[in-house]
Amino acid sequence: MSGLRQRERLAQEAVHLAPGASEESALGRRVFVEGRGAVLTDLDGNQYIDLAAGTLTQSLGHCHPEVVAALTAQAERLWNVHDFSTADRAALCDLLADLLPEQLDTYAFFSTGAEVVEAALRAVQAVAEPGRNRIGALRYGFHGKTQGARMLVHWDIGNQAFAGNSVLGYSPYCYRCPLDLEYPSCGVRCATLVRRHIAEKSNVSALVFEPVLGAAGVIVPPPGYWEQIAESCREHGVLLVADEVLTGGGRTGTFLAGEQFGIEPDLVTLSKGMASGFPFAALAGRAEVLRHPRAAQAGSTASTYANNPLGIAAARATLEVVRRDALIGQVAGLGALMDERLAQLRTEYQVLGDVRGIGLLHGLEFVRDRATRQPAPEIARAVYRHALDLGLRTAIGGHIIRLAPPFTIDRPLLEEGLGLLAQALERATGGQQ
Ligand SMILES: Cc1ncc(COP(=O)(O)O)c(C=O)c1O
Repeated sequence: MSGLRQRERLAQEAVHLAPGASEESALGRRVFVEGRGAVLTDLDGNQYIDLAAGTLTQSLGHCHPEVVAALTAQAERLWNVHDFSTADRAALCDLLADLLPEQLDTYAFFSTGAEVVEAALRAVQAVAEPGRNRIGALRYGFHGKTQGARMLVHWDIGNQAFAGNSVLGYSPYCYRCPLDLEYPSCGVRCATLVRRHIAEKSNVSALVFEPVLGAAGVIVPPPGYWEQIAESCREHGVLLVADEVLTGGGRTGTFLAGEQFGIEPDLVTLSKGMASGFPFAALAGRAEVLRHPRAAQAGSTASTYANNPLGIAAARATLEVVRRDALIGQVAGLGALMDERLAQLRTEYQVLGDVRGIGLLHGLEFVRDRATRQPAPEIARAVYRHALDLGLRTAIGGHIIRLAPPFTIDRPLLEEGLGLLAQALERATGGQQ
């Protein structure tokens, strides 16, 4: 439970603040005042190990000194001149060219995940052949809440908007296989069906997908899934648009998650891992797409905060530290520690139906009963609340808790955080394993 000063502050703001906050903050009821590295402090002085890394944004932890210095210096010089070039933009382009696969050599800069997904959709629509007026998406994909992005989202994300003109394919959700099959005897049938769909439809211009589905609970595809689908898209002239807003920047152990699945996308959207929590997003693409005369019309990459000098300074500083300190190399080692501890917890607690992850991105799926796999959001909520009370921040959504620590967290602190999670599980289940 939050302390008195926080409760008073929350009551004060509730007088005017519109409801509709995330489940995480509505349940958590905390007022955070400071973040340093992987540790947050609330208004009553309590500390928390942040295994949600902001909103999966703080790859370098909170307030990394070099990012703070870059932002402070930029804040003293210049805040907004529309999309004119400013001091850091060329260097940021060079950095991205170094970090991204070679074919992704052209960039545009925005401020949020949904904004960059919209920009990708505009580029696809601009270059699409006549008649290719549909966009492919995956069930359980999440791409943002603006109308274009929302059109690609076909599950309940708390606001039931019009789910328009997109064509849906099976996602590789092995734990809840839509075809009631099991890997590997399934032969990755979900991918075969998506592949067939792509081959049969001649009106699809692009497939927009998360290589690992993040918001839906870290759904990691089995070998063979992306290979089949990517090949089919290539064969039928369907552009591959990888939405790496959540996974991009090293979180899965490679700069792009898609690199681990052999995906060579035409466009990639990036945001959370780019600028240490400052609003910033980047669209990276093949020159054939982003320099195509129809995609490159005047104004197509401009908006009020696109190319904002503060965002660019924060992104440049963040990515320089990621590269210089070889932080992506650390992700696999820390991720292996998480795999091991979480697998152990799964053997101890029946309510942990599935535990899965890649790099420093893990999902814990809570169930009432392992046989029926019936989702147990009430147990996830109890674990989430107990964890906060014990000094651990995680990310909850429905019956799933996600863990995504900063890349800079040291092993003892990560172990301490996972120990607190074990205690939270113990409390939430009353010790019933
Ligand atoms: C894969 C993906 N795409 C797009 C978005 C939307 O980003 P934003 O919330 O910045 O609009 C998110 C947000 O979580 C995301 O995970």
